[in-house]
Amino acid sequence: MLFEPSESQALVQETARSYAQRTLVKLATRLDREARFPAAQLKELADLGLMGVNVSEALGGAQAGAVAYALATMEIAQGCASTSVTMAVNNMVAETLVNFGTAAQAQKYVPEITSGRFEAASFGLSESHCGSDAAALRTVARRDGSGWVLNGSKQWITSGDHAGVIIVWARTETAGAAAKGISCFLVEAGAKGLGIGRHEDKMGLRASSTVSLSFEDLRLSEDAMLGAPGQGFAIAMAALDGGRIGIASQAVGIGSAALQAALRYARDRKAFGKPIGDFQALRFMLADVDTELAAARLLTLRAAALKEAGQPFTREGSMAKLFASEKANRACDVAVQVHGGYGYIDEFPVERHYRDARVTTVYEGTSEIQRVVIARDLLR
Ligand code: CAA
Repeated sequence: MLFEPSESQALVQETARSYAQRTLVKLATRLDREARFPAAQLKELADLGLMGVNVSEALGGAQAGAVAYALATMEIAQGCASTSVTMAVNNMVAETLVNFGTAAQAQKYVPEITSGRFEAASFGLSESHCGSDAAALRTVARRDGSGWVLNGSKQWITSGDHAGVIIVWARTETAGAAAKGISCFLVEAGAKGLGIGRHEDKMGLRASSTVSLSFEDLRLSEDAMLGAPGQGFAIAMAALDGGRIGIASQAVGIGSAALQAALRYARDRKAFGKPIGDFQALRFMLADVDTELAAARLLTLRAAALKEAGQPFTREGSMAKLFASEKANRACDVAVQVHGGYGYIDEFPVERHYRDARVTTVYEGTSEIQRVVIARDLLR
């Protein structure tokens, strides 16, 4: 068993690390304060191959695999968590198009995402009345000749106002089992009937964009369906399996940035005649955080390695997401505590890390949903 990245994985990791440390670290505070979408940075990430890390070169990706993707996301999240979530959703949408789309759909959209010609791509599953209970969605696609007419709305859509293409889940069968009547569709930016709603004013990840979407008699051609009729829910779940590795990686990155900030402060700040890092109370907190983040990292890379090997990884992805997100929040909490009052103001980055980490136990499935997924697989 090897715990070191391969040469090509290390190259992707180093590319991401160098961009994050050289560019994103300096910008992250300003992007957060101005709630500014990092369009230019996303384009640069696309130029580095990071918008399709696990997508074939033929479609403009880096073809570097799921482990390299996890490593890259950890690095980008250390630089700017908002940028990393946008990158994560772009990668998830690109992979979903590759895995479930026709060759024509993949050719049409994936190179736009991997090249950065699309600023972003979106995943439209949640609605205002249903997040965890995804199968309860109410958006409807009604047959109309050879195509479809879409009506309904979506909530919490990452990059929805910047996306060149949005995967939208809709009910195509209104009778029968909830999950089985769901299909998924590709909606293009600017489609007639697509409305961009409220821009959420979030606690953290403020440079990422989160909007609601509405669909009013939005006409879709036959070939806008992704996958087969009724396959939509399974596509969503499969996409989220991979997406959760992305969020686990993001959480490891945010937690690591908080730990590094806490270590810097613990060395510099003096109290009672010595650096506060000399006090055992702080040393133990920092030791626990380092241990927990190391474990989170290994869980995340294990899930990614299973995915890369083509083995089942649903449970392992949920374990990684659950553990990494919870421990990232703890890391940020400790980092604020180490900073004392300075951790509570925006002069130091830990205040931002604390806000950014918070949503990682919520989106792409709450910690409670991850436990449902893990327990169900255990008891199967
Ligand atoms: N892969 C493939 N298929 C799967 C699957 C998986 N991992 N999990 C379930 N399915 C299939 C099942 O096999 C089943 O099909 P059959 O009936 O043919 O066997 C079908 O899907 C329905 O499954 P369930 O009965 O298990 O469905 P459920 O209603 O009980 O829901 C759930 C299960 C795990 C709670 C699911 O609803 C869930 O994951 N909820 C959370 C949703 C979520 O994570 N949303 C995140 C939104 S996106 C986001 O946050 C992105 C962002 O912007 C950052």
